[in-house]
Amino acid sequence: MCGIVGYVGPQSALDVVTAGLKRLEYRGYDSAGVAVLADGGLATAKRAGKLVNLEKELAARPLPTGATGIGHTRWATHGGPTDANAHPHLDNAGRVAVVHNGIIENFAELRTELAGRGHDLASETDTEVVAHLLAEEFSSCADLAEAMRLVCRRLLGAFTLVAVHADAPDRVVGARRNSPLVVGVGAGESFLASDVAAFIDHTRSAIELGQDQVVELRRDGVTVTGFDGAPADVRTYHVDWDASAAEKAGYASFMLKEIAEQPKAVADTLLGRIDGFGTLSLDEVRIPPEALREADKVVIVACGTAFHAGLIAKYAIEHWTRIPCEVELASEFRYRDPILDQQTLVIAVSQSGETMDTLMALRHAREQGARVLAICNTNGSTIPRESDAVLYTHAGPEVAVASTKAFLTQLVACYLVALYLAQVRGTKYGDEIRAVVRDLSSIAGSVERVLGAMGPVRELARTLAHKDTVLFLGRHVGYPVALEGALKLKELAYMHAEGFAAGELKHGPIALVEDGLPVVVVVPSPRGRSVLHDKIVSNIQEIRARGARTIVIAEDGDEEVTPYADHLIRVPPTPTLLQPLVATVPLQVFACELATARGNEVDQPRNLAKSVTVE
Ligand code: F6R
Repeated sequence: MCGIVGYVGPQSALDVVTAGLKRLEYRGYDSAGVAVLADGGLATAKRAGKLVNLEKELAARPLPTGATGIGHTRWATHGGPTDANAHPHLDNAGRVAVVHNGIIENFAELRTELAGRGHDLASETDTEVVAHLLAEEFSSCADLAEAMRLVCRRLLGAFTLVAVHADAPDRVVGARRNSPLVVGVGAGESFLASDVAAFIDHTRSAIELGQDQVVELRRDGVTVTGFDGAPADVRTYHVDWDASAAEKAGYASFMLKEIAEQPKAVADTLLGRIDGFGTLSLDEVRIPPEALREADKVVIVACGTAFHAGLIAKYAIEHWTRIPCEVELASEFRYRDPILDQQTLVIAVSQSGETMDTLMALRHAREQGARVLAICNTNGSTIPRESDAVLYTHAGPEVAVASTKAFLTQLVACYLVALYLAQVRGTKYGDEIRAVVRDLSSIAGSVERVLGAMGPVRELARTLAHKDTVLFLGRHVGYPVALEGALKLKELAYMHAEGFAAGELKHGPIALVEDGLPVVVVVPSPRGRSVLHDKIVSNIQEIRARGARTIVIAEDGDEEVTPYADHLIRVPPTPTLLQPLVATVPLQVFACELATARGNEVDQPRNLAKSVTVE
């Protein structure tokens, strides 16, 4: 949420910063702006709307070339998406420029205080106060990093700040509380960004800034301290993906590329975690086996798509381990005074590792003594850093705002955790678990097969582009899949879409069914739990009798559903608990195609941003 870039070095700062912003635009696209130190002064440009508007402005009115610069792409919080509210924000003398991600909660009070000292604040943002405060502090200490530390100690809320001062050439200063900020260490140049993608073209050596830390960037290196000025321990790590992973590679959108990458993402997430004998080795789950054996409850906290992964995990965890499992929206969790203690294992699922709601939920859980295991896709991000252990998903960078490959890998990680718990606790389902491990090992091939047969799904999506509503139904793990299908359609196609447990239909939602209403039904395997299968076949008949146009996702060879399906989407035979890994894929393709047919931009849906770092 909001993308920030900073640069000091021998290259044109404007070129480095604008290229970085392009990589970060998924974080917000309400406005964009840059500031460059050049010719002893500060030059800025900013425009409401997408980055392309700023690029046009820069082409029409080029900025002078400088070696130090900062940039910002915004997801609006305080103040609408206007030119005036776009970042950077300056002090009255135009010597300091600041960009910001997050919310400064005490900004109103600071604004009044500054106005009382004669400052003239021009925007409606919370950010502008920081530029003015920094200018004041710098005028007395003449050290931008120290000025930033002094200002940060006065701020409440969650924020990442990056600033330059015309009287501190060759310096960029950043500060972090809660929102992410990563330092890139190059040869004779240094970078700062909300995400390594912004500087991956230049260096793969990165430092994740910790909580309440300030960093000073110079050409010859970086210095990190706490807000109190004490030197901080920093850990440099190597980013294990390269620039090509952050490019579209010939696809029309990042979303299409990320959907196509799912077999590899799934395989990579399994890699090295299951040995040749079907035993799981999750060495990275640094929670002592005794603690896992003693756990009497699992609580999963997550948001959005990650929450749907958690809902599916509940079925697997309870079935394989017999430990009660609750799944809760992270944004609701801490407000209801949940019952947690040392025997509770909390699993926080997050692609970005920065979602504020999830972070706050995990902090609350740890305060109550619970152990927290993170399932996360972003190395070194805040959620894994603050958890007792982490199991990383290996989806690679997910750039499209709507989550696809991260979801599938979250599912894989959830299954691995569930199986590992079962293995450690020696539950009675040992044989079943060995069989599941075998099935899981071949699942990437099944995802590949689904992707190879998506032509008819795309065609169908195009014919439904004029519809207002689509319903999604499922039972058991098919229910969260239905929720996920509906979420994808809402966020990408801006259509009314609802997911229901098929059994709930008769308790109300069936009243929505009318002639021609498209209803997608996720059908479980007819093998194994045939009762479940029979029940959903009845549900399909019920809605079809009321005029619904049924779009049925069913296993190859399931002929029972054929008479009731207006459209049949086949997926490879998969055990019911693992079926979400194959059944979700057509729903992603369906939403992506439908959104494209409606003229929407699938990578950057309106009003959304990836990595939601406000509560
Ligand atoms: C939907 C989507 C969001 C995220 C949610 C959590 O397509 O992407 O619902 O799943 O904001 O994000 P993470 O996983 O980064 O915590």
